[in-house]
Amino acid sequence: MDNIENLIMRLPKAELHMHIEGSLEPEQLMHFADRNGVALDYQSLDALKQAYNFSNLQDFLDLYYQGMSVLQTEEDFYELTMAYQQRCADDNVRHVEIFFDPQGHTARGLDFRIAIEGILRGLVHGQQTLGISHKLIMCFLRHLSEQEAFETWEMAQPWLHRIDGVGLDSSELGHPPSKFKNVFAAARKAGLKLVAHAGEEGPPEYVREAIEILDIDRIDHGNRLLEDENLISHVRDAGLTLTVCPLSNLSLCVVDDLRQHPLPEMLKRGLKATINSDDPAYFGGYMNENYLQTAKATNLSPAEIIILARNSFTGSFLSQDAQQVFLDEIDQVAQDFL
Ligand code: ADE
Ligand code: ZN
Repeated sequence: MDNIENLIMRLPKAELHMHIEGSLEPEQLMHFADRNGVALDYQSLDALKQAYNFSNLQDFLDLYYQGMSVLQTEEDFYELTMAYQQRCADDNVRHVEIFFDPQGHTARGLDFRIAIEGILRGLVHGQQTLGISHKLIMCFLRHLSEQEAFETWEMAQPWLHRIDGVGLDSSELGHPPSKFKNVFAAARKAGLKLVAHAGEEGPPEYVREAIEILDIDRIDHGNRLLEDENLISHVRDAGLTLTVCPLSNLSLCVVDDLRQHPLPEMLKRGLKATINSDDPAYFGGYMNENYLQTAKATNLSPAEIIILARNSFTGSFLSQDAQQVFLDEIDQVAQDFL
């Protein structure tokens, strides 16, 4: 293990941008399809893997929604969540704030309860057995209407005490944040945290809308905000965290080459960037792989890597006290290393 790899491994980290359905590994997908008798367009594991070659976000989403259709029982969601947390334990990821897409399940006739109960049981078991703490963020699919988001919001009411935040994901272009103004206001009124994907493929105006109209607490991706100087200043001064996903960006052609990834520029501009895996089963790597490949491609310094790990906790929805425990541990690792 080289020095940088060793540092990345030893640093405690939080993951703030990961769709649990995007952690469905192809082998596991085939296994659930078989177990549940779900027919797929792909006859073999190899044929499925061949399809993991995307030219944009929509290309990926088409496969992502098909993939999640193999999730049929509470046990499936539980096993999926446990498998993800085992990967976290392997990477020294100690806290996770995961997304789930209930509409990807209810739209195909599954009960909201099946998905959320399986995920919650997995998260609690992961905390008990692996020591990984968690928050759960329910995302609305932005290609659907705000009315449909409200229907999902209604379904979620019995679980609201176990949901920490709401988010906005799926096809960005043509679906600006403002479309979800009212449902985000309802979630805010209920005391939930708010996040939204913005500026992944969409223009800087979508980032501005997410901040000004939805009043979000954190920006998912945010790459394209770098096109707008005023927005950069605003996001920096407001201390808003960006949950950046380098291998996702490469896989979905948001960047052509990891060496051109804007993460170092974000840090140099004083933006509070973090590294995350987004949909690790589809994009070629979990947390440490994202750190390592980005560090190597963009020449991140040890000090920058340490800042990224710190940002993952200070940008989390953990209490100040809980954050401090991890920040102290990071300081210790940094002292040993530098
Ligand atoms: N859903 C899952 N991954 C996503 C991404 N990267 N962007 C938007 N929606 C998503
Ligand atoms: Zn995402």
